[in-house]
Amino acid sequence: MNPIYLALDLPRLDGAIALAQKVKGHVGGFKLGLEFFCAHGHHGVHEIARVGLPIFLDLKLHDIPNTVAGAMQSIHVLEPAIVTVHAAGGRAMMEDAKAAAGEHCKVVAVTVLTSLDEGDLRATGVAGAPHDQVLRLADLAQEAGLDGIVCSGHEVSEVHSRWKNGYFVVPGLRPANGSAPGDQKRTVTPRAARDSGASILVIGRPICRADDPVLAARAIEATL
Ligand code: C5P
Repeated sequence: MNPIYLALDLPRLDGAIALAQKVKGHVGGFKLGLEFFCAHGHHGVHEIARVGLPIFLDLKLHDIPNTVAGAMQSIHVLEPAIVTVHAAGGRAMMEDAKAAAGEHCKVVAVTVLTSLDEGDLRATGVAGAPHDQVLRLADLAQEAGLDGIVCSGHEVSEVHSRWKNGYFVVPGLRPANGSAPGDQKRTVTPRAARDSGASILVIGRPICRADDPVLAARAIEATL
């Protein structure tokens, strides 16, 4: 199976469908984020699903358990392969999210957003280093019966050693050929992430913004 999930972070639905059609032979699935879902809803997800590859709904759900379970039930019909929730929503919320998910849907936890540093965390009442909070929330996600977590290529090997059969979603990847990091600061190559235990690789701009997205996807695929 091709582990690359292409992050379709494009503003227009027609552009996203066209790109998905173009690269479908060289990626394993499509990641649709909150922005896409708020703009295009179920209709947009159905349109991308028609391309024929698994869908990862990166909705980062975070609310009381009953509401998150209801949201999970409402997206059943879309048959997502993967859905994200925030581990900070707590154990009961994660348990209920998993219980409400479809049989073939992996529920994966976001631990600490990579946009937060130690000072940001402290301002929310969380003392200590982000790294320790990531590991604490990863353990909580595992106890709650989730399938895995989202983590960076720098953390995946440590998390993998604590959670042997976990499912690890790794974004923040840049191919070795020097594609622009953009706002991603701590990148690793897709191959390095895979070797460290990543289950799937989330890649956006290195493919979406390439002059030739098919060539870019094929080049990354060839390194794996
Ligand atoms: O364009 P790029 O390859 O950086 O896209 C990465 C995708 O992964 C985006 O959709 C982004 O929202 C998501 N993501 C991330 N870092 C995280 C979690 C998710 O870049 N920590």
